[in-house]
Amino acid sequence: MNYSNILVNQEGAIATITINRPTKLNALNKATIEELHQAFKNADVDKSIRVIILTGSETKAFVAGADISEFADFDVKNGGELAQKGQELLFNFVENLSTPVIAAINGFALGGGLELAMSAHFRVASTNAKMGLPEVSLGVIPGYGGTQRLPKLIGKGKAMELIMTAGMLTAAESLNYKLVNYVVEQEELLPFCIKLASKISNNSSTAIASAIKAVNAGYRNDINGFETEIQEFGNCFGTADFKEGTTAFLEKRRPNF
Ligand code: COA
Repeated sequence: MNYSNILVNQEGAIATITINRPTKLNALNKATIEELHQAFKNADVDKSIRVIILTGSETKAFVAGADISEFADFDVKNGGELAQKGQELLFNFVENLSTPVIAAINGFALGGGLELAMSAHFRVASTNAKMGLPEVSLGVIPGYGGTQRLPKLIGKGKAMELIMTAGMLTAAESLNYKLVNYVVEQEELLPFCIKLASKISNNSSTAIASAIKAVNAGYRNDINGFETEIQEFGNCFGTADFKEGTTAFLEKRRPNF
């Protein structure tokens, strides 16, 4: 598959998707969102891929937001459609992917960039990273799930402050607020994420897919997280991975998933 705005690379069981519009600080235009959707979709059905790392090209930005030049002349209808389509195609899509997604935040993650990082299953940042939702400084609000995911990750009060001030958190502050799991030097960012991804890739991908579903269910209002957990727990008992995992344990060997 040929992409113009992203790079996709696979090494072993780990795929790395890199947003590649460095002259625009990797801003998310419509074409990039569509390419990302396709790349995530392809990676999710490819059973040789067990973990996806998402990052931005070069060292200045992960993603500096939605591409402002594309929506500057939108009206109310266009604005609503932009948010709805983006949420469906990319942000909710990534959050609900059965393959784990780690966001490797290598610089500015602003607006849609932070929203994309928050859609990933967890985040690692480089020391130079800066994160924020500056939309109100443009007369608009976060539209790719930011008003929903940020309060869940860092708490309502701090999220309100960050959104209202259009301010930015440093990497250290993001770690303090548990917005990211780790902060590492820029040159260590991808090697560190690959190490984490390798650990994940040794475990059962069917069980991990069930775990993602169950954890995500707890953050929704339309389904019951405990019921989802019961159902997914039960489903695991019908998988080859469950047989292999339990057999390997009893035979005192490593499982081969
Ligand atoms: N949409 C479109 N283009 C963007 C962009 C965005 N969200 N963010 C950066 N760019 C472009 C700039 O227009 C500039 O393009 P140009 O060279 O053709 O003029 C290029 O990327 C470099 O950005 P620049 O602003 O010159 O870099 P800087 O180092 O001075 O500032 C930022 C970096 C991140 C502080 C600044 O780019 C910025 O505030 N970006 C917008 C952040 C934002 O509001 N995001 C939310 C959008 S809803």
